[in-house]
Amino acid sequence: MIEPGPTDSAAVSAETLEQLLEQARKVGAQAYAPYSNYQVGAALLSRSGRVYVGCNVENATYGATICAERSAVVQMVAAGDREIVAVAVATPKDPLGLPCGICRQVLVEFAGPDCVVLASTPGARHTTTLGALLPEPFTLR
Ligand code: THU
Repeated sequence: MIEPGPTDSAAVSAETLEQLLEQARKVGAQAYAPYSNYQVGAALLSRSGRVYVGCNVENATYGATICAERSAVVQMVAAGDREIVAVAVATPKDPLGLPCGICRQVLVEFAGPDCVVLASTPGARHTTTLGALLPEPFTLR
């Protein structure tokens, strides 16, 4: 829990984002990425103030690989949480780990367009929103 109470995307402070990024970096070290050698860690902040983390887990079939963002979403849903207000993605090397198309669609299921997305490598960072990354998404809700 890094936010004291319920929060929304507009209220996520710079300090909170740094803490989220730190958790993304930490879990990224657990990534199983023997094929790409590109480790990714993701941390999601839910409206409840809880944080869920995930890393990429690759597979010899390549196609069965799960990205860090989606593995964090799976953790969140399994814990009974449903609303994401901010996402941090950390990679120890270039390029920046902006969520891929599939991850953007999966994030949209549980986050609004104002959801903050921060991608970071040691040399660069980019802060944006989910709405900017996936405008006019398909949704059934
Ligand atoms: N990857 C992620 O985990 N998240 C992203 O947003 C982009 C890509 C992973 C999938 C694969 O294991 C590796 O990075 C190279 O594509």
